[in-house]
Amino acid sequence: MKTVTLHNRRSVPALGIGTWKMGEDGRRRSGEVAALRRAIDLGMTLIDTAEMYGEGAAEELVGEAIRGRREEVFLVSKVYPHNAGRHSAIEACERSLRRLGVGQIDLYLLHWRGSIPLEETFEAFSRLVADGKIGAYGVSNLDTSDMEEAWGIAAGRGTAVNQILYNLGRRAVELDLLPWCRAHQVPVMAYSPVEQGRLLRNRKLKEIAQGRGATPAQIAIAWLLAQQDVIAIPKAGDVKHVEENRHAGEIALSDAEMAALDEAFPRPRERRPLEML
Ligand SMILES: NC(=O)c1ccc[n+]([C@@H]2O[C@H](COP(=O)([O-])OP(=O)(O)OC[C@H]3O[C@@H](n4cnc5c(N)ncnc54)[C@H](OP(=O)(O)O)[C@@H]3O)[C@@H](O)[C@H]2O)c1
Repeated sequence: MKTVTLHNRRSVPALGIGTWKMGEDGRRRSGEVAALRRAIDLGMTLIDTAEMYGEGAAEELVGEAIRGRREEVFLVSKVYPHNAGRHSAIEACERSLRRLGVGQIDLYLLHWRGSIPLEETFEAFSRLVADGKIGAYGVSNLDTSDMEEAWGIAAGRGTAVNQILYNLGRRAVELDLLPWCRAHQVPVMAYSPVEQGRLLRNRKLKEIAQGRGATPAQIAIAWLLAQQDVIAIPKAGDVKHVEENRHAGEIALSDAEMAALDEAFPRPRERRPLEML
């Protein structure tokens, strides 16, 4: 499994698993727990969740899936912007720790930017690190100007990662945010790598996948893994999807395939504000 080194020098698998919409439907619960456990078995040990997902239900599900296996996983969770204050972030983190059933979250992110000043959030994050409640912190959905603002704050320069919407159909970030992150050694965690399933219906992607006997999801994920310092976190509540996605980690796209993907999914010519889902 390819690894990526975070800004705090910790190395993590480049392919993990997301959990948005998990834990919300009792009928899917056992399948989702099985999917997360299979992901861990296969080395996709980075699990991304958030207090927002199912208002805590996804964190509880993750807690159940990792019981007895805490040391194998790298846990990422996120705080709501309205809970990201000097004191409220500490309390939110403690609630997440309880739901997850762990003593420490490996990486704690600001989910998106709200009205609470970044200074306050970074102050709370630094305290959580000092108290051992989180191993590292980062941000999500922060555009280039927000990252520059974060870099103006001493604790902001400890940002380990920026989790953003990035996939074959969302390449505008390659114009400025991605180069900015690379220049500052801040890896990007690409969310919605298959655009919540919509990308998989793309005719050109299907053709490129067929050309090498892979699935569209595998090609979309392999393309992300081919990018420098990018971590992909496809969500899969189905064991078969987990296994399929894991194989994407073994696919080395040829120059011709990369060129075909560039042609089918061209990088926009002009910068746009960072998109989010
Ligand atoms: N920071 C943020 O603001 C933010 C925003 C969005 C997402 N995220 C994180 O990123 C994770 C991934 O993004 P996402 O959940 O939005 O979308 P996604 O990973 O692009 O797509 C998930 C959907 O694709 C399906 N899928 C996965 N692998 C597949 C395969 N091999 N073949 C066919 N279908 C497949 C899943 O189905 P099954 O579940 O049935 O397997 C699910 O319906 C989230 O779960 C969350 O952890 C973060």
